[in-house]
Amino acid sequence: VRGEGVWLYDEKGRRYLDGYNNVPSVGHCHPSVVAAVSRQAATLNTHTRYLFENVVDYAERLLATFPGELGNVMFTCSGSESIDLALRIARFVGRGEGVIVTQDAYHGTTTAASEISPSRGTASKGVRAIPAPDAYRQSNAEVSGIFADNVAAAIADLKRAGIKFAAMVVDTVFSSDGFHVDPPGFLKSAAEIVRREGGLLIADEVQGGFGRTGKMWGFQRHGIVPDIVVLGKPMGNGMPIGGVVVRPELLTQFGAKQRYFNTFGGNPICCAAGLAVLEVIEREKLVENARNVGSYLLAGLNKLKDKYQRIGDVRGAGLFVGVEFITDRQTKKPDSATSLRLVNGLREEGILINALGPYRHVLKIRPPLPFSEANADQVVRTIDDLLDRFQA
Ligand SMILES: Cc1ncc(COP(=O)(O)O)c(C=O)c1O
Repeated sequence: VRGEGVWLYDEKGRRYLDGYNNVPSVGHCHPSVVAAVSRQAATLNTHTRYLFENVVDYAERLLATFPGELGNVMFTCSGSESIDLALRIARFVGRGEGVIVTQDAYHGTTTAASEISPSRGTASKGVRAIPAPDAYRQSNAEVSGIFADNVAAAIADLKRAGIKFAAMVVDTVFSSDGFHVDPPGFLKSAAEIVRREGGLLIADEVQGGFGRTGKMWGFQRHGIVPDIVVLGKPMGNGMPIGGVVVRPELLTQFGAKQRYFNTFGGNPICCAAGLAVLEVIEREKLVENARNVGSYLLAGLNKLKDKYQRIGDVRGAGLFVGVEFITDRQTKKPDSATSLRLVNGLREEGILINALGPYRHVLKIRPPLPFSEANADQVVRTIDDLLDRFQA
């Protein structure tokens, strides 16, 4: 019924540590965001057919966090709308329909976004789904090459079917694929192939963006600059705002022939929230916090991996950490019984965390960014106690 910082409270006043919520990313009900939203609501709220300053201020502040090549932004109300718009731009500019995604990707809920979301079971004939990179089942040295080969094979398959390749869309942390982030840089070779074949690289930063990975943007871990970047969830700390950041040369072509207007996209209240989020991230050094507390949490969980055979892998980038459960270390067979039992056990102990991946066998720890070392200790200690109890 109430939230504050990294804590949620139920109707009886019981406190839960939120280890899962990346939407109120700078903390539940952050006072600076609340004040900015309230101030704007009492001043002006309309839409972008009328001129107001904070949409421009926000666009400039946001673009300053991106590499110089990504010079334009358009605002939406959700991650799905942003994916939809990114696909429209890529397909218009490239005059193609073919899109490559990963096998268990989730990119949203509109018709176009769900067609590139194999995890939801929908597909279209222009979409090719390839295995996600997986450093736990491949070696670190193999990940980049295998992924690049799969991209090349998918492009060849589109060609054979007479479908022109337009874009590859990747969630930069491969969240619904089971969360795959290592080794940093593995997207580079695949990106080169995409460009060589005339396609665009669309980075979905709905999960990885706004400091989550210990860098402002997930793609920065890979040393690449995408053609289009899709934003959502943490952007307004709970206010519905999304965005599409684009290379200007693409938007010039798109804008000359296509129109885009979104009644609520980029409205003054959402822009006020977005601006406040950027200010809080900077003032409270939340990107550094994600990096530091993230590695602290990772170290604690790695100690548990030495203690419990059922933990096959612990992986993380900043404050997005996955713990993969397996039935035995030889076969690496997914163990969703343990992960799901743990999710419920943790809730009973006052910690909210969920599981992800095709079998939901990977614990997904993705708390608001002001998470502290003491919070991380509580998570590690409680997982340790529960796993110990499960063995008894
Ligand atoms: C990677 C990714 N892309 C896109 C979306 C869609 O965002 P929204 O729910 O805001 O439409 C999600 C939502 O979970 C997501 O995780």
